[in-house]
Amino acid sequence: MSRFLHNAWYPVAFSSDIAVGASPFARTLLERPLVFFREQAGALRVLEDRCPHRFAPLSKGSVAGGRLTCPYHGLQFDGTGRCVHNPHGNGEIPKAAVVASLPVTEQNGVVWVWPGNPAQAQEGLLPDLGEIHPKNEGSTFTAYLRSEVDYEIVVDNLLDLTHADFLHPGLLSTKGAILACHPQVEELSDRCVRLTLDLPLREYPAIPTFAPFMPRPLDPAATRFQITWHAPCIIDIVVHTSQEGPHGMVTHSIQGAQLLAPEAAHSTHYHVVGSRTMDADDPSITAMVRMGALHAFAQEDGPMLKAVSERLGEQRYADLQSVLLSSDAGAVRARRAFNRLLAHEVQCRREGMMPSGS
Ligand code: FES
Ligand SMILES: [Fe+2]
Repeated sequence: MSRFLHNAWYPVAFSSDIAVGASPFARTLLERPLVFFREQAGALRVLEDRCPHRFAPLSKGSVAGGRLTCPYHGLQFDGTGRCVHNPHGNGEIPKAAVVASLPVTEQNGVVWVWPGNPAQAQEGLLPDLGEIHPKNEGSTFTAYLRSEVDYEIVVDNLLDLTHADFLHPGLLSTKGAILACHPQVEELSDRCVRLTLDLPLREYPAIPTFAPFMPRPLDPAATRFQITWHAPCIIDIVVHTSQEGPHGMVTHSIQGAQLLAPEAAHSTHYHVVGSRTMDADDPSITAMVRMGALHAFAQEDGPMLKAVSERLGEQRYADLQSVLLSSDAGAVRARRAFNRLLAHEVQCRREGMMPSGS
């Protein structure tokens, strides 16, 4: 069975990556090279990154007047993928000179592409991430990493908080507290599973990122982790910390929307949008939180996930019967939901309800 769900929105870039009049932007999604560019009025377009003439990468061409020019022999394509100019001979445009276009939309500063059946691309199926770009933009950061790891390995890593006690001892400083917790798991819809995990109340101070903003930084505080999986590979992590202060309860939270998109079988695009409630006006805090998040994935998770990937070789992670621990409850429910969606998609394709290429 395919490892990819095609009928889904995938986050492939930040809107700011692709400006009007800028060079074409290339990104591969589900092993399919794509080219992105904006029309003159700003509308974003996504085409297959392969010219129908001699198959040159269109992303190596140029954009002018909202048209994409092939760098090899100069055919020009509009945003729908139709050839609109042929500089050769009498200029007649061959009927087959068409490039496939894909549904695309922008939300929360993120570019989402639907690689499946275009007729099923509804914006209502975008994951509900709330307001990941809060009104105070000073408290928001974005980051992009390309990970050379199967996206399913990255998903399970993000749905499992317990690894933090081993791989990120400095980041959370929970010193084993997470291991003893039993996550509460809820299936919010056929595409959404949520895990909630409360650190034992009154036993631990706030985690280091929050501590300076609490009324009594060294005293116990209540910490709740809420991790929401949206099919197929969006994981929204929100951490709340509360402590009673002299003027009432003080609560702060950090949100990290982990936006994954498979590039290919063993590589993943990883975009992050992070925001927080404390000291929202201070850019130095934003930079510090961003650096902490990047360091955690690139230096702590990354090497371990790469090592896991190398151990698996060509065996598919999701096909193996891995040993399950109590902390895997959320990942198991998400995997089951994913498998149901994938089975349905495969069934639809067999019955001819989806184009075979999607
Ligand atoms: S390969 Fe694009 S015009 Fe020839
Ligand atoms: Fe991690």
